[in-house]
Amino acid sequence: METVLVTGGAGYIGSHVVLALRDAGRPVVVLDDLSTGHGPGVPADVPLIVGDAGDAALLDRVLRTEAVGTVMHFAGSIIVPESVADPLKYYRNNTLVSHALIAASLAAGVRRFIFSSTAAIYGNPPAPLVTEDMPAAPASPYGWSKLMVERMLADLSAAHPDFRHVCLRYFNVAGADPAGRAGQTTARATHLVKLGCEAMLGRRDRLTLFGTDYPTPDGTCIRDYIHISDLADAHLLALDHLEGGGGSHALNCGYGRGYSVRDVIGALNRVGGRALPVVEAGRRPGDPVELVADSTRLRRLLGWQPRFDDLDLIVRHALDWERHWSALSPQGIP
Ligand code: UFG
Repeated sequence: METVLVTGGAGYIGSHVVLALRDAGRPVVVLDDLSTGHGPGVPADVPLIVGDAGDAALLDRVLRTEAVGTVMHFAGSIIVPESVADPLKYYRNNTLVSHALIAASLAAGVRRFIFSSTAAIYGNPPAPLVTEDMPAAPASPYGWSKLMVERMLADLSAAHPDFRHVCLRYFNVAGADPAGRAGQTTARATHLVKLGCEAMLGRRDRLTLFGTDYPTPDGTCIRDYIHISDLADAHLLALDHLEGGGGSHALNCGYGRGYSVRDVIGALNRVGGRALPVVEAGRRPGDPVELVADSTRLRRLLGWQPRFDDLDLIVRHALDWERHWSALSPQGIP
């Protein structure tokens, strides 16, 4: 069986996909520079190559010696406000690195590529329920840096019909492996569920709620929170699709249901058993009001059926992981 190369396999999403690949008995190799990923999170029986996903010489060696048939590319930078302040970092880490990786893949004979894309490519969509056909209009360099890679892959697949790809456009990924083997370890995380869990466990004083005057029923932003293990499943289905000769696609990954920030705080309170200390603040610049995935295509094309479409369950798994992780890193939030 051909090997799957997973870049960013020590990171939050990559590590869960590595577990899913391993659970499915697939040979897998991880390439990660460990700048934000957590090395010990890579299972001991999975080879971990520490290096840059844009290092052409390293890629050439790895792609050929490991008999790689598919590349899954997660490595990248993901903080939207940071991308506004330091756009070149994003065009390097996301766009240029991807270019190098795609070029090396093509040169080494790899013909299947699965790419971590994002709802950020839609910017502020014209309607809250987002379909893949809506115009891409990123509102940040982060979104542009990812959209350019989608474009590269589309153009390359048109030029080389035997090269096929799937771009998975993630909405708000949260939760942790239900068996407790992995979860979010990212230092300086900015994501609501992660920060809420840290506050619930007293690792930070409070949660700041950004914006209470949005035109939504409770005044806070609405997002589509998808469980990390359901997202991992989508990657395995994309792999099956490409291995089965399926064509190239860009697919939204979410449940199609929106929850407000206050809904998430409510779930945290229920699951954590106490009222989270929350401070209401002004809007965070650049936040779209409402983003919900129309994931009909993912369901129809790949046969994706979510197993954890339940906000309280997502929060429970995230909180269980955070308890475990805080015992492993008791010094607090780096
Ligand atoms: N929020 C708070 N307090 C916090 C953190 C977040 O109120 O401490 C709010 C945000 O303002 C937003 C919602 O919670 O309304 C969700 O925020 P996240 O930071 O968890 O997620 P985003 O929706 O901003 O970001 C997600 C992905 C990004 C992607 C973006 C696309 O995590 O990678 O969607 O819009 F780029």
